[in-house]
Amino acid sequence: MNRHEFLRGLHKASANRNYLEIGVNDGRSLTLSRVPSIAIDPAFKVVTEIRCDVHLVKATSDDFFARSNPLAHLKGGRHPLRNLRRGRHPLAHWRGTSLDLSFIDGMHLFEYALRDFMNVEKHSDWSSVIVFDDMLPRNVDEAARDRHTNAWTGDVYKVIEVLNRYRPDLETVLVDTEPTGLLVVFGADPTNTVLTEKYDEIIAEFVYDDPQKVPESILGRTTAVKPEALINAPFWKPLVNSRNRGTKRGRGWESLRASLKQINTAG
Ligand SMILES: C[S@@+](CC[C@H](N)C(=O)[O-])C[C@H]1O[C@@H](n2cnc3c(N)ncnc32)[C@H](O)[C@@H]1O
Repeated sequence: MNRHEFLRGLHKASANRNYLEIGVNDGRSLTLSRVPSIAIDPAFKVVTEIRCDVHLVKATSDDFFARSNPLAHLKGGRHPLRNLRRGRHPLAHWRGTSLDLSFIDGMHLFEYALRDFMNVEKHSDWSSVIVFDDMLPRNVDEAARDRHTNAWTGDVYKVIEVLNRYRPDLETVLVDTEPTGLLVVFGADPTNTVLTEKYDEIIAEFVYDDPQKVPESILGRTTAVKPEALINAPFWKPLVNSRNRGTKRGRGWESLRASLKQINTAG
């Protein structure tokens, strides 16, 4: 399955009520969105038909998140069901303040992708779905920080090790999509400050000159799961229901976490 097919499945399975995308390019991933969206790219060149209510931001993601009230476009009850009286519909709790689905596919350097995650997480919660592109480079050249290949993942794959080491409270699923894999992160906690506190230490260890030391497990895709295993998992319906009811982290998260661990173990 290629990444855009997988993303289409993710939009459907997650029944997301809003969408944030970092890295738009010609719009081939943004075209999958049907809900209020924010899409950020300093050099977008959209040639694809876009079928959502989108704030298309011409800025780097760092500059975008430094704005005051960056998610203003999603706030204020822009959901199509906004006129339903509060408390009478499962979506009535929706405030539009938390991101349901985010796709991080901007600058392909580790520190940019890490900062994108840190910024996105501040606007997410346990039921949010956060996706990274290009997490499975096919060779060391493709993973170089100094781009010299046509297809380029850069060294964003390092985010996996960093999240697993510094943020064991999150659940990460590496997905074997074509061409270069995706990472899906669950369990976001906007109050967690570990990555901010450890940022300098992380950069000092993980940012170094080429050639990059890409782990064998990444090149061999040994820890990645089949895309269908995640898209067709039974946890989506309960997750969506809990999220739409505004349920706080608790039993819903524990049960989601157990399902994700099972998917990772089964491979
Ligand atoms: C791989 S393309 C995105 C592809 C698109 N998501 C898709 O799947 O069709 C990466 C894009 O990231 C943009 N980009 C580069 N640096 C960025 C930054 N600092 N913040 C946001 N976007 C950035 C580039 O201009 C480029 O268009």
